[in-house]
Amino acid sequence: MKRIAVLASGRGTNLEAILEAAERGEIAGEVALVVSDQKEAQALQRAERRGVKNLFMDPRDYGGREQYDQAIVEQLQEDRIDLVALAGFMRLLSPLFVSAFPMQIMNIHPSLLPAFPGLDGVEQAFHYGVKVTGCTVHFVDEGLDTGPIILQEAVPVIQEDTVETLHQRIHASEHRLYPTAIDLFCREKLKVEGRRCMIID
Ligand code: GRF
Repeated sequence: MKRIAVLASGRGTNLEAILEAAERGEIAGEVALVVSDQKEAQALQRAERRGVKNLFMDPRDYGGREQYDQAIVEQLQEDRIDLVALAGFMRLLSPLFVSAFPMQIMNIHPSLLPAFPGLDGVEQAFHYGVKVTGCTVHFVDEGLDTGPIILQEAVPVIQEDTVETLHQRIHASEHRLYPTAIDLFCREKLKVEGRRCMIID
């Protein structure tokens, strides 16, 4: 069984979807740790309710980004984590963190990358006026939302949409896509060649 850590700063609905999928046996791994940089993050409460180890790690307790990331890396190593899943973790990881877990860190982003990376992917797509957007699960490299793409799902933009209704449908899509990608990793079905991530039969 692979050991998964989820890092989240906010509501944690993706975390919840991952925990539920794991409980249903749809992920060949267990969520062994949840870490947040926000004390009040709902993600921590969701983990607590399900009896999953959860830690608030306060960036202000460390000298800077590298020291903070180093502390998280040490915690992940102590908990023998195989996969780090970022789920609304609002910090750019330092090269130190990324190199400690090469192709073992995933992120979910609410657009069809490489379109609309960075903050507010849903708003960016909506205001650009695209007719199709969606979500992307990708491995994390040192760039901003630039790592190899694992899975994507398209979500059409309808005329009646507001940013909020579009966001809701993208969220629903994320909740299907992220557990699927994590399960593929746990079953060792993902192989990265250059920028391309293959799914092995
Ligand atoms: C999601 O929209 C995800 O794409 C982005 O952050 C949001 C997290 O939402 N990276 P939640 O905290 O899982 O509800």
